[in-house]
Amino acid sequence: MTRPFNFSAGPANLPEAVLQQAAAEMLDWHGSGMSVMEMSHRGKEFISIYENAEADFRELMAVPNNFKILFMQGGGLAENAIVPLNLSRGGSADFVVTGSWSDKSQKEARKYCDVQIAATTESSAFTSLPPTASWQLRRNASYVHVCTNETIHGVEFQQLPDLKGLGSDAPLVIDFSSQVASRPVDWSRVGLAFGGAQKNLGPAGVTLVVVREDLLDHALPVCPSAFNYKTVADNDSMYNTPPTYAIYIAGLTFQWLKRQREGEATGIEAIEKHNVAKAQLLYDAIDNSQLYLNKVSKDCRSRMNVPFFLRDESRNDAFLAGAKARGLLQLKGHKSVGGMRASIYNAMPLAGVQALVSYLQEFEQKQA
Ligand SMILES: Cc1ncc(COP(=O)(O)O)c(C=O)c1O
Repeated sequence: MTRPFNFSAGPANLPEAVLQQAAAEMLDWHGSGMSVMEMSHRGKEFISIYENAEADFRELMAVPNNFKILFMQGGGLAENAIVPLNLSRGGSADFVVTGSWSDKSQKEARKYCDVQIAATTESSAFTSLPPTASWQLRRNASYVHVCTNETIHGVEFQQLPDLKGLGSDAPLVIDFSSQVASRPVDWSRVGLAFGGAQKNLGPAGVTLVVVREDLLDHALPVCPSAFNYKTVADNDSMYNTPPTYAIYIAGLTFQWLKRQREGEATGIEAIEKHNVAKAQLLYDAIDNSQLYLNKVSKDCRSRMNVPFFLRDESRNDAFLAGAKARGLLQLKGHKSVGGMRASIYNAMPLAGVQALVSYLQEFEQKQA
């Protein structure tokens, strides 16, 4: 069966090899007689799944040993509260607002600490990134929050800010929900990274948190125990019942990522090369057309989420209907932005982007 190409922003498509393996193991995981869904999280079978997932992610992303990898619940939005509960120490935090998600983050954090907007690109309708030299960072901030890929606006940091170089000792917190495992991370610049799994890693339900050990033990007394990073870390993410099936699928995805090859490159470097090639193909098709338009500055266009508009918006419905008929699904843009959005995460094959580009050209020619 050939499946359609799914451009959803999340929950999003998963590698077909992962879905096939999960299907094959659904009723009986490795001779255990159980589905992974039916296992105790404290049994040896699930513990081995968990330990492999953790080790594979650490290896894949070269996460240093002084960082803990936590598998939590609540998604990115819960982390908007969990981070200040754990890191703010009741003090202050600085936010760089580059789109809807970082804006949501700063609004939530206001419940727990003193928030300042260090920089914002609201005046450019979130189509650019503020130069780091313009960021107003406070000396006493407990942390600085950045969303490294704005899923709705299609704006991505091509490199992480060097806070030390900007004169700040505050740890950098990154929301990498829609960017995780699509490119390497420079962990020397990061204090904490969080992201829901449902875009690049697996099904909704598990949230990955990678946190430097020295940031673990500062939670406010009101922080729920299940959301206290130290408690979660001390219990290997099993203080409460973790989202076991989602962790299992994420683990299969990590193995799939480790198997990636592109020339000499392997693993995360290989998937990054694939992602660069896919994004280039799609942005070139948009830029070279008379009908389609992407408004984001070229230096910060997202490799993962490509919002675009038809210059003649009266054709939107026809565009989407024609796409669906060709097996190109979920291309409608976010309601706050309009237009279209093609999310081309790790699991989107090059063939999917090629099919989309052919359709873009065909639709434009037909309507000319
Ligand atoms: C960058 C980013 N942060 C946070 C979220 C919210 O994640 P969740 O729905 O898992 O809470 C999303 C969801 O799309 C996102 O794209």
